[in-house]
Amino acid sequence: MGKLIVISSGKGGVGKTTTSVNLASALAKQGKNVILVDGNLTTPNVGLHLGLTKFPITLNDVLKGEASLTDSIYIHPLGFKLVPGSLSIRSFSEINSRKLKKVFDDLRELCDFVIVDSAAGLGNESISVLKNADEILVVTNPELPAVTDAFKIVTLAKEIGIPVKGVILNRVRKDNFDLGFRAIESLLETPITSVIGDEKLMRQAVYRKKPIIHINPKSHTARQYHHLAKRVHTGDYQRRIEELEAENTFLKSLLRAFGF
Ligand SMILES: Nc1ncnc2c1ncn2[C@@H]1O[C@H](COP(=O)(O)OP(=O)(O)OP(=O)(O)O)[C@@H](O)[C@H]1O
Ligand SMILES: [Mg+2]
Repeated sequence: MGKLIVISSGKGGVGKTTTSVNLASALAKQGKNVILVDGNLTTPNVGLHLGLTKFPITLNDVLKGEASLTDSIYIHPLGFKLVPGSLSIRSFSEINSRKLKKVFDDLRELCDFVIVDSAAGLGNESISVLKNADEILVVTNPELPAVTDAFKIVTLAKEIGIPVKGVILNRVRKDNFDLGFRAIESLLETPITSVIGDEKLMRQAVYRKKPIIHINPKSHTARQYHHLAKRVHTGDYQRRIEELEAENTFLKSLLRAFGF
């Protein structure tokens, strides 16, 4: 049975969808059978990141009982399967937790990994999705407001008994205005598993509607997503600052900027 990993965040706009599409692509490139689900039921945008907007059947239709789950699964040319959300404002209805659980249980049967891009925050929508996770990865930017909100997700996850396996620190810049890695790890009591810089290339990826691991497979960012995928499928998320440092010179310069 597959493992269901929810990509979550406290604050919106920190990079969950970017992480989800790249992680799904990297796992697929590494030979895993992956289903990427747009679990952001009110404002789904996985399809937009992948240049796909017209889906006859979406997760919203399945949750409304108007379509079967198998009809909402699309094969993406990049090697993973996709369960998209609907962009129509009329498609959203109250979340039925029992139906959502059934969808996730059925998806687990069909693959090695279900990667779920979730909505931000602690609203009903994101909590309903989080409750179904086997593991959670929290995305945050290194600023205090984002980390404080991430702390709320970590606390909620503890309350509902689902492990937060790692923090993906996204949009890290070379300046001294952000929180240091160690401060973030100790506040969230979770290891930082990936550090992604604030990069023009990432915005270009959205513009070109393709994950960065396909646009620039040799970039350090692409390598970070491949490392993350490896952690996901080996289940070994532990990494230390020394490992981050050893990975590449870009990170070395970031670490120096943070005073390590
Ligand atoms: N590392 C990065 N460097 C530069 N831009 C980035 C980076 N990561 C994400 N972005 C940009 O930030 C924007 C928001 O990213 P994304 O959609 O992944 O966030 P999100 O957490 O899914 O947002 P939401 O909470 O609205 O679902 C996008 O335009 C994306 O291109
Ligand atoms: Mg998103």
